[in-house]
Amino acid sequence: MTAEHGQAGAVAPVAVVTGGARRLGRHLGLMLVRRGYRLVCLYRSSRADVASLEAEVKALGGHIRALALDIADRDAVARAFAEVAGVEGRVDVLINNVGNYNPQPIQALDPEAWDATLGANLSGAYYAAYHALRLMPDGGSIVNIGMAGLEGTRASRLAVDYYVSKTGLLSLTRSLALACGPRGIRVNMVSPGQLDNSVDLPGPEQLKREIPIGRAGTMADMEGAVAYLLDAPYVTGVNLDVAGGYRLG
Ligand SMILES: NC(=O)c1ccc[n+]([C@@H]2O[C@H](COP(=O)([O-])OP(=O)(O)OC[C@H]3O[C@@H](n4cnc5c(N)ncnc54)[C@H](OP(=O)(O)O)[C@@H]3O)[C@@H](O)[C@H]2O)c1
Repeated sequence: MTAEHGQAGAVAPVAVVTGGARRLGRHLGLMLVRRGYRLVCLYRSSRADVASLEAEVKALGGHIRALALDIADRDAVARAFAEVAGVEGRVDVLINNVGNYNPQPIQALDPEAWDATLGANLSGAYYAAYHALRLMPDGGSIVNIGMAGLEGTRASRLAVDYYVSKTGLLSLTRSLALACGPRGIRVNMVSPGQLDNSVDLPGPEQLKREIPIGRAGTMADMEGAVAYLLDAPYVTGVNLDVAGGYRLG
């Protein structure tokens, strides 16, 4: 659903972004505000970033409401969406952006860290989708944020919990797309490779070696891909790598 739709209809559409206070989630939330959505920003602890985001959204003439929660806590997610139901009354778009990456060698990865990653990255996305779908009009959209190179199951010595969570998220994406198609609700995934704000971004020479397009991805690259999927009424169940060819070979 686009801003144009929102302006033509009686009520502006609502977008929920998880991990929406900082970094990629913040950029996607601002893109949605510019497209006419009322923004619900779900965050965990970045209160100062929320305050500056609220100011930025207001400067754009938009609406924002921020709710703090642990997305891995299913009762907290239920409470947050009950609040959204009471105040906004609907969810037109859900962006599942939380994706914690804490690389540890597989032999050192303790069960608590495993549970935390799977809880936030995969179960949290499911909890949010479960509640969002109950508030979503026909024609709504879910976009999950993955990682590049998910075609074929990937192995990792350093981040197995992350890789498993993203592989599971792709399966969740396709399964929800299958189930929700008859309602005109589309569920897709956008998968970055190396973004220019990555915590362990390689140097320019390595980026040129590893990425056919020769550079890291930008927030604008990601915004464009998510916007495309929101506007593509016949596209569902796809994973769109926004990665400059990273992990193609
Ligand atoms: N950056 C990259 O190069 C790259 C590459 C491939 C894929 N990705 C994917 O792109 C997405 C965004 O990446 P990013 O680097 O911008 O994200 P990030 O900085 O790692 O995390 C985004 C936000 O998620 C929130 N969060 C984490 N755990 C949470 C929890 N349990 N409950 C609620 N909120 C929680 C945090 O909120 P608070 O700050 O409020 O605590 C954080 O600001 C992720 O899915 C990631 O896997 C990124």
